[in-house]
Amino acid sequence: MYDFVGLGILIALILLSGGLAWWAWRARRLWMRLLGGIPATLLACTLLAAFGLALVGYQKVNRVYPNPVPDVQVELTPERIARGEKFARTCAGCHAPNSQFPMVGSNFIAEGPPLGTLWAPNLTMAQLRDWSDGELIRAIREGIGRDGRSLMIMPSDAFRNLSDEDVQALVAYLRNQPAVEPPSPPRQINVVGAFMLGALIPDAFFTAQPALAGPVEAPPAGRTPEYGRYLSSLGCQHCHGADFQGLPHTNEPPGGPSLRAAAQNYSEAQFVAMLRTGTRLDGSRLSAEMPWPDLEKFSDDDFAAMYLYFRALK
Ligand code: HEC
Ligand code: HEC
Repeated sequence: MYDFVGLGILIALILLSGGLAWWAWRARRLWMRLLGGIPATLLACTLLAAFGLALVGYQKVNRVYPNPVPDVQVELTPERIARGEKFARTCAGCHAPNSQFPMVGSNFIAEGPPLGTLWAPNLTMAQLRDWSDGELIRAIREGIGRDGRSLMIMPSDAFRNLSDEDVQALVAYLRNQPAVEPPSPPRQINVVGAFMLGALIPDAFFTAQPALAGPVEAPPAGRTPEYGRYLSSLGCQHCHGADFQGLPHTNEPPGGPSLRAAAQNYSEAQFVAMLRTGTRLDGSRLSAEMPWPDLEKFSDDDFAAMYLYFRALK
C-alpha cells in the first residue's frame, strides 16, 4: 500500500541535501556558505515538505472505512439478470476499453504523469469470483473496496441512489457473466501519486460514501416524473449539473447542456429519439462525450420518464 522504494529514495535525497547544507554552512568561506548553503537548505526543506504531503496522501489512500458489508445473498433469477444489464451498460464506459462488453478492465493512468497503477478493474468473475454479494453492493453504492479502503473515481455518489432491487439486479447480471481473464493489477499509488493526492487533488477523488442505513427503494417503473427523477440521479448530474441546469464544457468529466432547457425545446418523442439514436432534431450528432450508447437498454418509457422529470423542473 506504500511505495517503499519511492519513499526510500525521497528520504535518501532529503538526507543528501540536508548533509550538503550542513557541510556548506560549516564551510570557511562566506561565498561557499551562501552559494551552497541556501540552495541546499531550500532543496532539503522542499523535499521534506514533499515527503510530508506524500504521507498525507497515503493516509487518504489507506484509510479504512467502517461501513458494514450488507448481509445480502442475491438470487439469480432470469428477470433480475435481464434487468441488471440496463445498469451494467453504464459501467462499461470506465471498466472496459471502448465501452464494450465484456468488462475486462481499463488502465486509468496509461497516459499522463506516472502516478502508479490504477485500473477500473475487470468486472467479470475473473476478478470478482471471491467477492460476496454484499461486498459488491458496498463497492457499487458506497465506494468501498473489499479491503475497506475508499475506491477512487468510481461514481458511487450517484450509484448510491440505486434501489436495493436494482443493485441486486446489477449484481445478478455481473455474476452471470463468464469470467474473462486476466484480473486487473491491484491499485498501487507511487510516491508521486501520493504527493499529488496529499497536495493537489481534491478529496472528491475518493468516492467512499457514508453507510446506507435503511432500505433504498425506487418509485415504480413507468412513465412518471418520479421514476425519471430516480433514473437521472444515477449519473446524469455528473455532467449536466446537480440541478440539471448544465455545466461548463471545460469540466472534467465534460459538462453538458441544460437538460431542463432540452426538455422545453424538444417534444417527448424528439427527446426519446435523441437518446435512442444520438441524433438531434436538426440531424446533428451528439458528441462522443455524451455516453448515449450506454443507455441502450433503457426503454422508451425510461427516456420519457426522464423527459417528464426535466420538463417539470422548468
Ligand atoms: C467513471 C468511471 C467508472 C464508472 C462509470 C464505474 N466505475 Fe467502478 N471503478 C472505477 C475505478 C477507477 C475503480 C478502481 C478504484 C480503485 O481501485 O481505487 C472502480 C472499482 C470498482 C469496483 C472494485 C473492483 C475491485 O476489484 O476492487 C467495483 C466492484 C466496481 N468498480 C463496480 C462498478 C459497477 C458495477 C459500475 C456500474 C454500475 C461501475 N463500477 C462504474 C471507475 C468507474
Ligand atoms: C460523461 C458526461 C455525461 C453524462 C454522464 C451524461 N451526459 Fe448528456 N451530454 C454530455 C455532453 C458533453 C453533451 C453535449 C453533447 C454535444 O454537444 O454533442 C450532452 C448532451 C445531452 C443531451 C442533448 C441536449 C441538447 O440540448 O442537445 C441530452 C438530452 C443528454 N445529454 C441527456 C443525458 C442524460 C439523460 C444523461 C443520464 C442518463 C446524460 N446525458 C449523461 C455529457 C454527459
